[in-house]
Amino acid sequence: MNDTRLEHIVGKVKDIPMLPDRINRIIKITEDPDSTIEDLEKEILLDQSLTSKILRLANSTHYGYPRKINTISQATILLGFKTIKSIVLASTVSKMMVKELKGYGLGKNDLWTQSQTCAIISRYIAKDVGFNGPETAYIGGLLRDIGKTILNYYVEKEYNAITNRVQFGKVSFLEAEEEILGFNHAQVGEKIAERWNFPQELVEAIGLHHNPETSTIDPKLVSIVHIADSITMMLGISIGADGLTYNFSPFALHSLNYSTQDIEQLISQSYDLIIDKDSFNL
Ligand SMILES: [Fe+2]
Repeated sequence: MNDTRLEHIVGKVKDIPMLPDRINRIIKITEDPDSTIEDLEKEILLDQSLTSKILRLANSTHYGYPRKINTISQATILLGFKTIKSIVLASTVSKMMVKELKGYGLGKNDLWTQSQTCAIISRYIAKDVGFNGPETAYIGGLLRDIGKTILNYYVEKEYNAITNRVQFGKVSFLEAEEEILGFNHAQVGEKIAERWNFPQELVEAIGLHHNPETSTIDPKLVSIVHIADSITMMLGISIGADGLTYNFSPFALHSLNYSTQDIEQLISQSYDLIIDKDSFNL
């Protein structure tokens, strides 16, 4: 791959829109221990579609709350600041992720459905292993493949070269991306997360979700997102062209203390999780 094209791709990453100001303000409020429920409510109420999404989710059977939630402040008490943050981020990135990505063989909505699946499984695993930050795991799972939205254009152009390499060269789709384009989607995703000023452990989880063994900041978080990603692909949720070429990293299994049997159990539990359509209420 020549340098001009590589620079062009990096340039594209630089062009990625920043998160809208209001979303950044809401995220800041949820992260500030001194902010109050009123602060958060005031900001959310400025966005009608976000307000209705949060109320819809708070009232879904997923949270199993017996009485109707009518206000954002009730929803915040029920769901907590961190979950509100996840919902806000998810509803923002959904716009980037619903598009068709021909290079990856992903139809309209496929990446979005798959990402929500991976996010839900990531949160489940985080709770299962007692990881301190299930909502961070949720966001990591949700955004791990966001780089595909940028790299798609280039993958599409080199589709035959990449799939040939996967088929005959016995390399993974990720390795073929790297060989032929000079970048893989995880590295591009890492750049996006950096640009959005995400905490460094989340940047790492997105960047290394296919190579957890190279993690230095938070190997547990990277391993959670990696395992959730592999399970999502195994379950065959709108997986697209690269779906069947990934495996479970022994490093990730080890750092979460999972045996092969645990994984089998996790796969069937994940299946139960995602057939609950309320989990996808965004
Ligand atoms: Fe990926």
